[in-house]
Amino acid sequence: MLLFLLLVFLPTVPIETEVVETLADCPGFFVEEKPPEIPNILVGGNIRDQNRYKVICQTFEDIRRFLTLYDTDNKIPVFSAYRFTGAEKGRPNEPWKIEPQLEDDINMRSLRQSDTLRNQATDSDYSNNKRYHKGHLYPNSHAPDWDAKRSTFTLTNAVPQVGTFNGGKWAQVEKRTKCYMENNCINASGKIEAFVVTGAEPGNETLNNKINITSKMWSAFCCHNSRDDVWYSKAYWGDNVPNSNWRESSYEEMKATFGIKIFPEKCSFLNNVDSSRTHPCEKEYPFQSEITTDTAPPSTTDHSSPAEKTTCPPNSTPASPMTPKTTTTLAAATKTTQPTSITSRYTSVINEEDCEDDEETNRKRCRSWG
Ligand SMILES: *[C@@H]1O[C@H](CO)[C@@H](O)[C@H](O)[C@H]1NC(C)=O
Ligand SMILES: *[C@@H]1O[C@H](CO)[C@@H](O)[C@H](O)[C@H]1NC(C)=O
Ligand SMILES: *[C@@H]1O[C@H](CO)[C@@H](O)[C@H](O)[C@H]1NC(C)=O
Repeated sequence: MLLFLLLVFLPTVPIETEVVETLADCPGFFVEEKPPEIPNILVGGNIRDQNRYKVICQTFEDIRRFLTLYDTDNKIPVFSAYRFTGAEKGRPNEPWKIEPQLEDDINMRSLRQSDTLRNQATDSDYSNNKRYHKGHLYPNSHAPDWDAKRSTFTLTNAVPQVGTFNGGKWAQVEKRTKCYMENNCINASGKIEAFVVTGAEPGNETLNNKINITSKMWSAFCCHNSRDDVWYSKAYWGDNVPNSNWRESSYEEMKATFGIKIFPEKCSFLNNVDSSRTHPCEKEYPFQSEITTDTAPPSTTDHSSPAEKTTCPPNSTPASPMTPKTTTTLAAATKTTQPTSITSRYTSVINEEDCEDDEETNRKRCRSWG
């Protein structure tokens, strides 16, 4: 009788296998199921060092939401891959999660004492540092529903990202790609659908003597546009430094800069979509060589200012980061003649640990973690 009850009731217990053996065990997140080619890490769909790099099938409320390839040595993701199907507005006030299955030996006690986690970053690794945000790879702002948004708040989906970059130009990349995908990635069923891979390059410094600090971030999407019957793709990257800017990139440049082949050949990042449909996104989220008030503390920042959206020629080279426009608050805090870009990165991130533009109010919304 007991056995019968067990057999009946066991399957209703959610068994979430998140860390899986191969990328093929977590289908649905790559164009034609073809993962990126990353020299020495991921070759021909096979992970070279399976002890170090783990495939996390990011499952939340029993649904597989996205995929992360995680580097347990560097304790940052190599990339997160997801399907963009449109996005819900807002940002949940969600605590950051860890991935118990990355640990060899885990029990409830070690879950509570985060310093016993050996194979991943924890909240406390970030909490004493004001310079770095927990920067999402799969951003909350690209998630289709509330639970999907909540699922992005896992430390396995985050890298130490300079605050002014995360809240500044990288946030703009997220908005610009969202705009492109919503308007140009319409599949045969008439639905928005695009495949996105966002990754991080390791750097030469560590956070809390443990986490490899990302030197560059990149993001690329690819989709089939059924209206025009073309494959459509774009790629972006930026240095993870204060007041960093992004650049739009070509397939060749991505390969040359990162050695990574992100998508199959058919997504060769050609701007092959009717420009009347891509132009509005370029206009709304233009490339600006100048770094503007993105670095200001939230209390003095109103991002609804249209003056900020001065359009620059898209091919102009970035201006020197030593001459940013600053707000009066920053100027007042800077009594020396030091270049404001040096001072502002500290001033600005203290109250801006985890900020995001709120699309409804056009203001920055921030939360802090402890
Ligand atoms: C179109 O995209 C939607 C949302 O991702 C998906 O459910 C559907 O299967 C796709 N249709 C085709 C024909 O690919
Ligand atoms: C890291 O250090 C190596 C050797 O000193 C150097 O070649 C490389 O450019 C550095 N990388 C970054 C991102 O600073
Ligand atoms: C970060 O990771 C890269 C690649 O794995 C490695 O070469 C580098 O030494 C690491 N940096 C630190 C500071 O650990």
